[in-house]
Amino acid sequence: MRVLDLGCGAGRHTVFLAKAGFQVTGLDVSETALGELQSRLDKANLSVTLVKHEMLELPFINNYFDAVVSTNVLHHGTVAEIERTLGEVYRIMRKDGLGLVVTLSKKDFRYGNGRQLEPDTYLFTEGDEKGIVHHFFPEEELRSFFGQFEITNLNEELVPMEKGYWAHFHLKLRKA
Ligand SMILES: C[S@@+](CC[C@H](N)C(=O)[O-])C[C@H]1O[C@@H](n2cnc3c(N)ncnc32)[C@H](O)[C@@H]1O
Repeated sequence: MRVLDLGCGAGRHTVFLAKAGFQVTGLDVSETALGELQSRLDKANLSVTLVKHEMLELPFINNYFDAVVSTNVLHHGTVAEIERTLGEVYRIMRKDGLGLVVTLSKKDFRYGNGRQLEPDTYLFTEGDEKGIVHHFFPEEELRSFFGQFEITNLNEELVPMEKGYWAHFHLKLRKA
């Protein structure tokens, strides 16, 4: 089973999946995150392919992966960028391949922070994620963006925080 951890960061899912015996590829644009992940893999004696690349254009052949995992990544872009990335995700997944995605909901308490770039998309201007673009999905839009996939499960997780909800959608997908 070939699994892509798209936007793997420091690799909490990459390591988990590699330990479970999957053939894992981790892709991220951050050299720092990939360096941290490589050290963790070395310590655990795990072998994983790490790729430093933009998700907008995935450097893989068509229909290659059996599954794609992407948590808290796909919302880092404008609508046009997200649509382009999803086209790429679809392309590199095999037919009947599975996807697990966690992404930001419009109900999240950080909605409206920073500078608005377009409807529901903000460039954070302070804090840990200063300079990073966040798109906040309404559910209907999310369903339409993932329209080429079969959405086998979608639920919204709302975690109460001091300033509102920490709000994310969890999607399970299949490439029909
Ligand atoms: C919030 S972290 C999530 C990391 C990991 N998926 C997890 O759940 O622990 C977001 C990750 O997405 C990566 N990322 C953001 N924009 C990206 C892009 N355009 N292409 C590839 N990776 C990107 C960041 O470098 C970062 O590692």
